Amino acid sequence: MEEEKQNQKRARIRKRADAIKDFRCKNLIAVLENPSDIRNIGTVIRNVNALGVEKVYVVDKRGGLPDDWEDLRDRRSLSKASASAVKWTFVKRFGDTESCLQHLEVNGFVSIATSPHVKGKSNLYLDECDYTEHAKLAVWFGNEGRGISDLAVERSELCVSIPMFGMIESMNLATSSGIILYEVAKQRRAYQSQYRRRDKRSPRSEPLPTVMPRERADDE
Ligand SMILES: C[S@@+](CC[C@H](N)C(=O)[O-])C[C@H]1O[C@@H](n2cnc3c(N)ncnc32)[C@H](O)[C@@H]1O
Repeated sequence: MEEEKQNQKRARIRKRADAIKDFRCKNLIAVLENPSDIRNIGTVIRNVNALGVEKVYVVDKRGGLPDDWEDLRDRRSLSKASASAVKWTFVKRFGDTESCLQHLEVNGFVSIATSPHVKGKSNLYLDECDYTEHAKLAVWFGNEGRGISDLAVERSELCVSIPMFGMIESMNLATSSGIILYEVAKQRRAYQSQYRRRDKRSPRSEPLPTVMPRERADDE
């Protein structure tokens, strides 16, 4: 009986994993630069997983996170803060900003920075930007107190802001990641649904769906 339940659970997980595959945004990475609060890291991982972003890179100068992904997945505080999303999400740790930038650049990724402030040469509000221009895109989020580093801004093509209408200076790191990655992933999913290749090459005869059919919480 117990074994049968386990098999059913595994089959459900496999079905879900197959169903979400086509909706994941290929070559889209969220980068957290020196986050200090484990709850923020967990929440960003949860957002990344929920929104279909491919990977998370964490620049962790303090060495608070393990290098090995398996160890990271087993970290209880992270698993709890991410509602177990860390189990299903690719997370890679870097010791400093330079090595992360180098890894991204060698692999053909273009970076964009995020900040509530005007930074660097080119600044746009979130919904003014086309996030499908680059085949490989990394979106950087800064530290809770210090924000994004000058180095990350220098090596980013532009800096994106969520417009602010209140009295406070900035949004919470994890909250801003949810808002920004929602827009970026929505645009890239729409692109993927219409074209197989970059530069609007190979249009699909039938666009793929951009949202999944909703299920009731108790649906099998
Ligand atoms: C709490 S904020 C950092 C505030 C910091 N004092 C600063 O100068 O940026 C942490 C991170 O969340 C993101 N963030 C927060 N509010 C944002 C906004 N309005 N627009 C874009 N990104 C934002 C940025 O990545 C920022 O580095």
